[in-house]
Amino acid sequence: MPYSLTGKNIALGVTGSIACYKAVDLASKLTQLNANVDVMMTDAARQFVTPLTFRSITHRPVVSGMFEADSELSINHVAIAERADVVAVVPATASTLARLAHGMADDPVSATALATSAPLLVAPAMDANMFDSPATRANVDLLRQRGVYVAGPGEGRLASGLVGRGRLIEPSEIVGHVRILLGRGGDLAGRKIVVSAGGTQEAIDPVRVITNHSSGKMGYAVAEAARDRGAEAVLVSSPTALADPTGVRVVRVGSALSMRDALYRECADADAVVMAAAVADWRVADVSDQKVKKGGADVWSIDLVKNPDLIAGLSSEDIVKIGFAAESEDLIANARSKLLSKDLDMIAANDITAEDAGFSSDDNRVVILDREGAEDRLPLMSKYDVGAEILDRALPLFRSPTP
Ligand code: CTP
Repeated sequence: MPYSLTGKNIALGVTGSIACYKAVDLASKLTQLNANVDVMMTDAARQFVTPLTFRSITHRPVVSGMFEADSELSINHVAIAERADVVAVVPATASTLARLAHGMADDPVSATALATSAPLLVAPAMDANMFDSPATRANVDLLRQRGVYVAGPGEGRLASGLVGRGRLIEPSEIVGHVRILLGRGGDLAGRKIVVSAGGTQEAIDPVRVITNHSSGKMGYAVAEAARDRGAEAVLVSSPTALADPTGVRVVRVGSALSMRDALYRECADADAVVMAAAVADWRVADVSDQKVKKGGADVWSIDLVKNPDLIAGLSSEDIVKIGFAAESEDLIANARSKLLSKDLDMIAANDITAEDAGFSSDDNRVVILDREGAEDRLPLMSKYDVGAEILDRALPLFRSPTP
């Protein structure tokens, strides 16, 4: 997750739960992403972790009481509430949710939540019975109605030994939710971007498939870049080892034909499609119902039939079409001919023989070609940044006016 949150001010309110240790991890992750993380703690939170822990991680003062003022550093909770881009209460206990629902302001966390005009995120953490109680449910509903973003809780084993709903969601997921809030109202707000990813799998029999080396990283990164600018991002993905990105809807597919069905359904009301998937050009002519036995033969031939070209089958009248060209030779000439034959708006050509920008790398080096003949050679950059460059160029091409 190399893309940064430089310049973003995140106010992190920590309240008293055993899950406080995950707030430490969250503060660390946000700080590593270059965000300015201002931590505020309730008295109860200080029973679980010390302010020193957060100060050592964020390299910033920590607000841990209502009546301390450090005007020189301007770190009191009112200043924090004003400059925050997002206020995140992690973990949010049942009593904190009750305080927030009732507009109390008797600790630095609830006072900041009340004073801010920034989006407010709460990530509940408590015992399942407490989360299920009518009082907590009513408080959560009330907060939601007021526009508070409720992230989680998850299901699983709780500190009490019970198994149920009440676990604080993982810090990496909370970072995703913070990104969604930061992206609200971004330049892709109101737009739907469909991204295909991964290598399709063509069945030979119930056990074997024909597939390729695609890791899915490029497509997932484009979808995350679109999400972070306010778009509705949908991934149509063949199997990958990657986790579903928070806030991106993932439609799982297998073969090229199943990808086509899902892709065309999702593209019906989309503004742009980015085809990062490595679609199998061929599928097995006769897929066996039973596992094929090796028998005594030394050679096995399988007949293949051609798959349809998925992106070529979409109409460029309705949707911005962006492709990738994976080439091992004649990069530009081959990419340009694909741009034309598939009627694309843009194609990102990459040399798959480059060692620093291969299938499973987090980085890519592409040349972006468009219909007008432009040829933009981008330096080696993260796949997320490649996604951002592609989306920048897609913005002026949308077929419908700004929503
Ligand atoms: N593509 C597609 N449907 C296919 C094959 C490819 O939509 N059946 C898309 C890919 O997702 C990519 C672009 O077309 O965005 C180019 O794919 P690539 O594999 O580079 O080229 P092919 O068209 O398959 O041609 P070749 O294998 O001959 O290089």
